[in-house]
Amino acid sequence: MSRHWRAPFSLLLSAFLLPLCASAANSFENTAIVRIVDLGGALVHLTTTYAIRALEDGSNVYTIALGEQEHGHTSWLEAKLKGQTERLPLEDFGYHKDSGVYLYTVELPKALNVNQTANLVIETVQTHATYPWPEEAAQKDPQSLKYHSELLVLSPYKTAVQRTKIKSPSPQVHSYTTPESVEFTTDAVVTKAGATITYGPFYNIPPSATGTFVDKKQKEIVVHYALDFPVLEVTKLERAAEISHWGANLNIEDNYHFHNAGPRLKGHFSRLEHQSQGYFGRPAPHVIPSLQLHLPAGIHNVYYYDLVGNVSTSALRTTPSIPKGAEANRFSVLEMRPRYPIMGGWNYSFTLGWDSPLADYAGFDSKTGKYVVGVPIMTVIPGTVIDDAEVKIILPEGATDIDYYAPYPALSERISTHISYLDTVGRPKVTLKYKQLTDKHGGVIYVTYKVPSTAHLRKAIASATALLGFFALGLAVKRLDTRIRRK
Ligand SMILES: *[C@@H]1O[C@H](CO)[C@@H](O)[C@H](O)[C@H]1NC(C)=O
Ligand SMILES: *[C@@H]1O[C@H](CO)[C@@H](O)[C@H](O)[C@H]1NC(C)=O
Ligand SMILES: *[C@@H]1O[C@H](CO)[C@@H](O)[C@H](O)[C@H]1NC(C)=O
Repeated sequence: MSRHWRAPFSLLLSAFLLPLCASAANSFENTAIVRIVDLGGALVHLTTTYAIRALEDGSNVYTIALGEQEHGHTSWLEAKLKGQTERLPLEDFGYHKDSGVYLYTVELPKALNVNQTANLVIETVQTHATYPWPEEAAQKDPQSLKYHSELLVLSPYKTAVQRTKIKSPSPQVHSYTTPESVEFTTDAVVTKAGATITYGPFYNIPPSATGTFVDKKQKEIVVHYALDFPVLEVTKLERAAEISHWGANLNIEDNYHFHNAGPRLKGHFSRLEHQSQGYFGRPAPHVIPSLQLHLPAGIHNVYYYDLVGNVSTSALRTTPSIPKGAEANRFSVLEMRPRYPIMGGWNYSFTLGWDSPLADYAGFDSKTGKYVVGVPIMTVIPGTVIDDAEVKIILPEGATDIDYYAPYPALSERISTHISYLDTVGRPKVTLKYKQLTDKHGGVIYVTYKVPSTAHLRKAIASATALLGFFALGLAVKRLDTRIRRK
């Protein structure tokens, strides 16, 4: 969340949000809400489908409410119409004090008239929403987590029927809450079939995005389940991308701090135990022996070292560069082996870097006389959260007229000068900082700048039109800005 941005905004809010809410409450009703919660480790993915019906002609702004706990864990939120790929514009109205909820509005592509319906799909990703239970486990013990949630999906509109399905990644569900005295149903509040626990259906729920409703009717539920794969968190990622026109090279160097957020290892680590588990093909679920990373196509000079020195046990399979503008459907695959298996509660820090042909990432816009270079924000690791990320883009010496476009806003951003011993005047550097990135946050930061007298390179990357197309797309996406902001 950008603090300087939010403060004036919320002031503005109290002035006009109330009327907005009041009119919003009349303009729709939910004929059904279905929420599917896919439990995981560091990330939990939620898909909520709102079947909505307009109560007034010309209804085109739908309001979504997140409870405080839910909002606290949510790092990504996007809205689409069911079956479509285009994201709908979303506006973040922040915390609404009088109702104790966080509000977002979604703009429908076409206004609905009375009794017209639409299916709105809201996808969110929660981070740090689970924790290991028990908190400690011996090397051969299983791994289990707990997930807390609120029972009812809140909405400023009345809802005819709603249900929530919580899917455990393993059929082993140790326990789940059966809340007492829930209104809105005369049947079983919760049922379980295989790895899926279903809360509801609940009927005829009044507008629930209010403090009174939350205090009186909302319930907490907890699911305790087994997880057969490790809970990997990146507590810190520092990426430095160095653009060299001389070498026509883009060097990317990532400094990772990994943390195994599974149960803390009880007792000592036994390599023998670990090896015999590996031998029988059943490594403990809370041990991270290796990790597969999808690196870009066309890379070379890949290096990987930790505090002790070079690590040479890893396997790398590279794939040639992808033509500019084509879909990135090929990856180089690094099977990364830490120096030691990362046990529950342990950390491992290392540096991973590579070189790429600059032409794979750069374009020259002859209209503006500027170079455009697209730098990926991070290497996406499915199921993993990155708590703190810092992306530095180091431009060629003498670069001027610098602009940059991130796919979603950073918490802090600045342009400064990077001085290395080979430089005379230093090189401009763009630094962006983020928190709680998820596997939805892959994206490209586009930097544009001018550099005098590098005609040789200009020729090499002359056919930049495809990349510029992407760049324009990046700008369009930026305007939609679907990233949720939070502390
Ligand atoms: C909308 O639907 C309701 C119930 O089905 C019906 O009573 C009402 O007349 C409809 N309104 C319009 C404008 O069609
Ligand atoms: C790591 O290996 C690279 C080349 O493989 C070498 O240049 C470098 O000096 C080595 N670094 C250490 C710390 O051993
Ligand atoms: C792992 O790193 C975190 C911070 O990144 C730190 O709080 C924790 O103490 C570290 N754990 C160990 C076992 O060193």
